[in-house]
Amino acid sequence: VDGENIKREIPSMEGVYHFSVDMLEDEIKELTELGIEHVLLFGVPDDEKKDCCASEAFNPEGAVQRAIRKIKEINPQMSVICDVCMCEYTSHGHCGILTDSGYVHNDKTLDYLGKISLSYAEAGADMVAPSDMMDGRIAAIRQVLDNNGFENVVIMAYSAKYASSFYGPFRDAANSAPQFGDRKTYQMDPANSNEAIVEGKLDVAEGADIIMVKPALSYLDVIQRFKDNFDLPIAAYNVSGEYSMLKLAVKQGLLNESAIYEAVMSIKRAGATIIITYFAKDIAKMLKNS
Ligand code: PBG
Repeated sequence: VDGENIKREIPSMEGVYHFSVDMLEDEIKELTELGIEHVLLFGVPDDEKKDCCASEAFNPEGAVQRAIRKIKEINPQMSVICDVCMCEYTSHGHCGILTDSGYVHNDKTLDYLGKISLSYAEAGADMVAPSDMMDGRIAAIRQVLDNNGFENVVIMAYSAKYASSFYGPFRDAANSAPQFGDRKTYQMDPANSNEAIVEGKLDVAEGADIIMVKPALSYLDVIQRFKDNFDLPIAAYNVSGEYSMLKLAVKQGLLNESAIYEAVMSIKRAGATIIITYFAKDIAKMLKNS
């Protein structure tokens, strides 16, 4: 987040914090000691910086860009991944540029996703992870990165991203809920699993290096289908709602803490090579002590 001296717990996500860039040092050092080698960054700009076109997302002095540089200063070995999306940065909260009739305009949005990705690469990101679900974005981003000398910046595509209620706590945390309507014109129908394969194939053909299924726990079958159908590394995103449900149940004594391990292990068992989870520190500690 913008500002200074901020380490603020997110009310809907117990144990997860907003950080201002000057407060990152202890956290990055703790992750390093725990053996965590990758971080995924999300920016939350101040409200007055939001506009129609997410300009703050490609500001070289934006919170994410400054955080990338700071993390590399603290630990040059830490690999830094950046979520690429417009919803945290647009005044309307949608993941792209709006048309006059209030639809997200797919192709106009692609230019902006390219600008945002380039800005993160210039700040030193190792990997960009577009989560917007526009068609054609992987090819568009790959082209912009390559044209600017960032051939080695990896693209992790949120390929099968469902229009899920499990993103609720994140939208509170990122202040990114759509101001009208929903995301069903660009995110996927939870009842559909064949479309996940279509989306995966498109992203692979366009040059994705890693493909992702999101959420994870209610979509283990889709993770397994990805594993069976594609030879690329498969990422699974254990999202905010999945985190908060379990965290609260453990806090209230309804479940033993080993339920966290069991749930995250099920994602691994389904075939994920990469697990994105707010439980990363919990799991790292459990693995250290086991
Ligand atoms: C941005 C984005 C979202 C999440 C990651 N990137 C929210 C959404 O699509 O509404 C959700 C992450 C989570 O719930 O943990 N588009």
